[in-house]
Amino acid sequence: MPLRVDLHLPSAPPEEVIRSDVASLWRYERVLPVGMEHAVTLSEGWTPVFQVEDRVWVKDEAQNPTGSFKARGMTMAVSAAIALGAQRLVAPSAGNAAGALSAYGARAGVPVVVAMPDDTPHHFINECRHYGAEVHLVPGTIADAGKFLAANRGPDDFDVSTLKEPYRVEGKKTMGYELFEQFAGRLPDVVVYPTGGGTGLVGMWKAFDEMERMGWIDARRPRLVSVQTAGCAPVVRGYEQGDEMTEPWINAHTTAWGLRVPSPIGGFICLRAIRETGGTAMAIEEEELHEQTGRLAAASGIDICPEGGAVWAAYLRLAESGWIGSDETVVVFNTGTGLKYR
Ligand SMILES: Cc1ncc(COP(=O)(O)O)c(C=O)c1O
Repeated sequence: MPLRVDLHLPSAPPEEVIRSDVASLWRYERVLPVGMEHAVTLSEGWTPVFQVEDRVWVKDEAQNPTGSFKARGMTMAVSAAIALGAQRLVAPSAGNAAGALSAYGARAGVPVVVAMPDDTPHHFINECRHYGAEVHLVPGTIADAGKFLAANRGPDDFDVSTLKEPYRVEGKKTMGYELFEQFAGRLPDVVVYPTGGGTGLVGMWKAFDEMERMGWIDARRPRLVSVQTAGCAPVVRGYEQGDEMTEPWINAHTTAWGLRVPSPIGGFICLRAIRETGGTAMAIEEEELHEQTGRLAAASGIDICPEGGAVWAAYLRLAESGWIGSDETVVVFNTGTGLKYR
């Protein structure tokens, strides 16, 4: 079962909780499980939002250290692991999480072991080696990489796999807090997010709940849209079938590598987050996501990754169908840099 942190939240307004003098996600230290004195940081988070259409913004996670939102989770997971005495950090990854873990491990001075599918583009692999990590390439998907690490685990290894420790989500929830600040205390009507393991979506959902408990927002929520690709869409299928749990996706394939997660362990939490916020889920074909990745990059100057292109394609469809109204505020997430995919 996935683990979750329950915090004793301060009962104070945002201006007393948020450290506006800190230009990273550590500005939310008071609602994080790790204090800044333990932070293993490369100055992550507090990423910009760029307006790309009337009422539509892109939140640009490519501007994080190692070029993806995975840095948010890894600063928190590595900080917590080191504070708890971890000696060696291990994780399977579709690519970006491995790069982030390698960098934060290097920052902390602890060895890192990662396993990735053997067809992962070479930039993701080289990045891990650049930061001194031990890299294993495994045939199959991230699920097979996870099995490989489980079978070869050493006594000192600390597993920072998605949702097997609770801190990565805590780092990612800061995206929700940033939206609150960047939209002057009013959350957008719709948030469109790519889903692999689902921690981005789940983290923001948790942040909104915490903000309500602190009295910062009311019970309304942004409608959360989960975007996957046609070649690997367990959450979309679960949503469409009305299931409570996701079923493993057979023969998962997509070149939006971060979305090739055939059996997300937090799939059932994603389904809850989508339904409870009145959101939806959508799968995008490869051709369409690549076309929209290029179009949005060329139209905006933002370094769009294929996962971001899938999200943009989903936004366009939902706007066209009227599911998103022309008077609604929308944030689409570009979760990483496009440069590692070539
Ligand atoms: C660029 C990018 N976007 C989205 C995702 C999916 O994120 P999550 O696994 O948190 O759903 C990943 C995961 O690897 C990624 O690298």
